[in-house]
Amino acid sequence: MTEKEIGTVISGIESPSPSALDFVVNQGVVHRGQFVELDYSEGTMICLVTDVFKTNRYFERAESVKEFESSGAKLFEQFPTAEWEYLVAKTRPLGVFKGGLTNRATLPPGPGTRVRIASNENLKVFFHFDEKGLEIGKVENHDLPVKISMTSLLKKHLAILATSGAGKSFLASVLFEELLDRRKESGRIATIVFDPHGEYSSFADRNPGEGRIDYSAKTILVKAADIKIGVPKLSVNTLDSLIKGLSPVMKRELGKVLSDLQKKMRSGKGPFDLLDAKEEISKAEIGENTRGPLLAWISELQDLRLFGKIDNPGVFDLVQPGKLTVIDLSELIDLRRKQIIVSYIARRLFYARRDKSVPPFLLVLEESHQFCPQQSSEETAISRGIIQTIAREGRKFGASLCVISQRPIQLSTTVLAQCNTHIILRITNPYDLKHIGESSEGLDNRSLDMITSLRVGEALIVGEATHYPLFFKVRQRKSQESRHEMPLEKAALDFEASKDDKKKEIEEFL
Ligand SMILES: Nc1ncnc2c1ncn2[C@@H]1O[C@H](COP(=O)(O)OP(=O)(O)OP(=O)(O)O)[C@@H](O)[C@H]1O
Ligand SMILES: [Mg+2]
Repeated sequence: MTEKEIGTVISGIESPSPSALDFVVNQGVVHRGQFVELDYSEGTMICLVTDVFKTNRYFERAESVKEFESSGAKLFEQFPTAEWEYLVAKTRPLGVFKGGLTNRATLPPGPGTRVRIASNENLKVFFHFDEKGLEIGKVENHDLPVKISMTSLLKKHLAILATSGAGKSFLASVLFEELLDRRKESGRIATIVFDPHGEYSSFADRNPGEGRIDYSAKTILVKAADIKIGVPKLSVNTLDSLIKGLSPVMKRELGKVLSDLQKKMRSGKGPFDLLDAKEEISKAEIGENTRGPLLAWISELQDLRLFGKIDNPGVFDLVQPGKLTVIDLSELIDLRRKQIIVSYIARRLFYARRDKSVPPFLLVLEESHQFCPQQSSEETAISRGIIQTIAREGRKFGASLCVISQRPIQLSTTVLAQCNTHIILRITNPYDLKHIGESSEGLDNRSLDMITSLRVGEALIVGEATHYPLFFKVRQRKSQESRHEMPLEKAALDFEASKDDKKKEIEEFL
């Protein structure tokens, strides 16, 4: 037996087969989640250990064990029981190498075939790792960094799915660090994240904690309150997609008003806003049955306090190679306002990328089930259309999407199906699990079972990026942790301290 050999294939009712293979461990140990390999007629087979169990013939019959032990004697003291204990590993064959190619196994190896721990070199080739790729974690028990090429991870979109608190945002931060750390020669894309909880604004911190890297120079932080959508850039159709309620006649009249205002703007009158549009509507020759509802509809737009004479920030300021733009939506409560911002910015970015006026980008959508829900009506899913368009067509232009969600079952199936790579952290809800099993190709029941027992920061990547499902541990982050992760005790202490300070100030003043 060579040093790396650890076991021998055994014969069972359903194993070995091209899809299941059990082996007994002769030397050392093997862990669930580890990879093993063996040579046989079809090439080198790589298998994932899906379970390990210990058996011992002395302890097989419950009544005999009870009888013997209740007499006061101990089985393991009286008999050489340790010599009969053995470890059996259940594995799932993933594929077979031959001449540099990987194929599915069509024949099983014979019982008695020697099994080795898979070598890092073979795993790197098998999972299509890329030395220059994005390092998002480590293959546990193999001490092998998970480095995936930017193209295969992101080009055809990525979904990060897990129960709340399992580590989705942490993983997204790790991904951002990798994108920000890339050198110009390796190709840098722009990253834009819509951040409903303000948890990525820590990337803009000038003085991160000790040992943390300062990414502030590479981060553009945009607060929702400062965002303005420039009215002159809006077509009637875009406006209609942002807020429903325009009848065909209203659309026609509004179209005329907007084009008149645009003409005036070009002749030197400067850009216009909704107030100017209202004035123009009041003066124009429009039937009263149309004028009234149109003005009311514009008032509704004004109430959103999102529209101005020009875009702020401009789309070109938002996307820069090698930079992260955090659009902090945490101060907005109204979902409709959040959706309008997401919809408008995503639309501008997508079309700007289509005519190559901005760099390739990754658009990251936290809480994506809120922005591209499966069930809602068109009126309440304002941003869904453009997100689905990016999901369907973005890959052709270098407009990639990363959707993050704790409720995958509520997420648009069109979007989820277009995400060619899924990274799944712990999921406990059986409905979500079932949904993921159906939407992630290449996931079998055993891997699904393993998802429920993952710990925080442990993940399964499945899809185009690695070709075969791979469990891994997300690496530690280099950037400052989100301020939201403050322990409850510290938040309580800070609150009381700030109250005490205020009281002191008032006392001193009096
Ligand atoms: N890989 C990891 N290593 C160490 N700690 C981690 C890791 N992943 C997550 N954590 C910790 O677990 C907690 C929850 O992580 P995170 O906020 O990323 O979860 P989440 O899935 O985004 O949750 P939510 O759905 O509520 O947004 C945080 O305190 C984070 O620091
Ligand atoms: Mg999160």
